[in-house]
Amino acid sequence: MTRFDKRGNPVSYGRSEAIDALDRVFDLLHAYQADPLAEVDRIIADHPDFVMAHAFRAGALATATDKAFESEVIKSVAAAEALLPRANDRERMHVSAVRAWLDGDWERATDLWGRVSMAYPRDLLALQFAHVGDFFLGHSHMLRDRIARVLPHWDRSVPGHGFVEGMYAFGLEEAGDYEQAEARGREAAALNRQDGWAVHAVAHVLEMQGRAAEGADFLAAGADGWAPNSLFAFHLWWHLALFHIDGDDAPAALKLFDEKISAGGFGQALELLDGSSLLWRLSLLGHDVGDRWTDLAAKWATRIDDAHYAFNDVNAMLAFVGAGDRAAQARQIATLERAAIESGTGAMMSREIGLPACEGLAAFGRGDYAQAIERLLPLRGKANRFGGSHAQRDMFSWTLTEAAIRLGDRALADAFVAERLSWKPKSPINRAWATRASRLNPAPAG
Ligand SMILES: [Fe+2]
Repeated sequence: MTRFDKRGNPVSYGRSEAIDALDRVFDLLHAYQADPLAEVDRIIADHPDFVMAHAFRAGALATATDKAFESEVIKSVAAAEALLPRANDRERMHVSAVRAWLDGDWERATDLWGRVSMAYPRDLLALQFAHVGDFFLGHSHMLRDRIARVLPHWDRSVPGHGFVEGMYAFGLEEAGDYEQAEARGREAAALNRQDGWAVHAVAHVLEMQGRAAEGADFLAAGADGWAPNSLFAFHLWWHLALFHIDGDDAPAALKLFDEKISAGGFGQALELLDGSSLLWRLSLLGHDVGDRWTDLAAKWATRIDDAHYAFNDVNAMLAFVGAGDRAAQARQIATLERAAIESGTGAMMSREIGLPACEGLAAFGRGDYAQAIERLLPLRGKANRFGGSHAQRDMFSWTLTEAAIRLGDRALADAFVAERLSWKPKSPINRAWATRASRLNPAPAG
């Protein structure tokens, strides 16, 4: 007898209580609330032959993009593959997808999860894994359009409808449709105050539109909903810190770094990313961040040979440059050179973005601003290829603008400032850059 989960997806496993329990674990992941892995481990202990539980565990760990979790992903994929003879088509596709991810083919993995979500439009887990895959691949429009494909199958009567709206809101935001993104994100966040992804989508809209005061108020007002158990609270606190920086309140941003963003001890790559990118922005603006770079660089150093994800490597490089650690910078570049000649998604990212980015950042660190611009400028049009959000990749624009001003290149500085002012005309940071650029010697005519 075929059984079904609470959204009507066929499940091969024969125990209803396990299927119901796994549904509850999925919902934790959909809301990014703690701790789906502890819960699924409990289910697996009682139901070791439940293939979807293993596929879930593998997928959740794999899409954390942290080599530290790789051995556990390998275990879960092996357990799931051993159960394939009992699995149905949907489950087999889930296992194939996470196997592809583990083997380094993130594009195929994302495509496979996407195919599951088209064949089973209410398979919210497949949709979320594909959404996260699109994020790490920098497929901005697919963040929107993959969700749009299944929207006709969802309405308020289907459990988890708000999570689909939250994902769609983020996709709309990354695709530049801020008005619709904000409306749908706010609606989803109101449906479930714990839904960190919906909150995140709204935060991104406010960030991209330079509505710093509104953004700070929005996140602060909702924090008691998502923060207590959010798996990515550190990232929402990072967004709040960005609003503080744009509101010219660096001390508040540093306070968040000390009390919230670092609260997990920077135990995983995703936390380290936010630590790096916050300190980098503060440092570029000339704020003293004390010895925070040294501590952060030490954490990143344990991953320096990973060659796992170029986006992580570039953010590690920020810490090595911030700490002034030339040896670590050279080693990080050597890791990327090694990764760049491999095959697969990670190699492409290392070759096209990671390596030139790290070389440019190292040049910036040694005060060679011309070389920094030489390496970083070509990345502005294609940095999406190594994933992340527009807000995260804004780091390239920040660094180029600061490099051009320090180099005294009026034409470049004016151009970068004009670009920034076009979408955040009121930002105090952008206006300060505009003032500094205007004081440079004019570019020679002709
Ligand atoms: Fe974000």
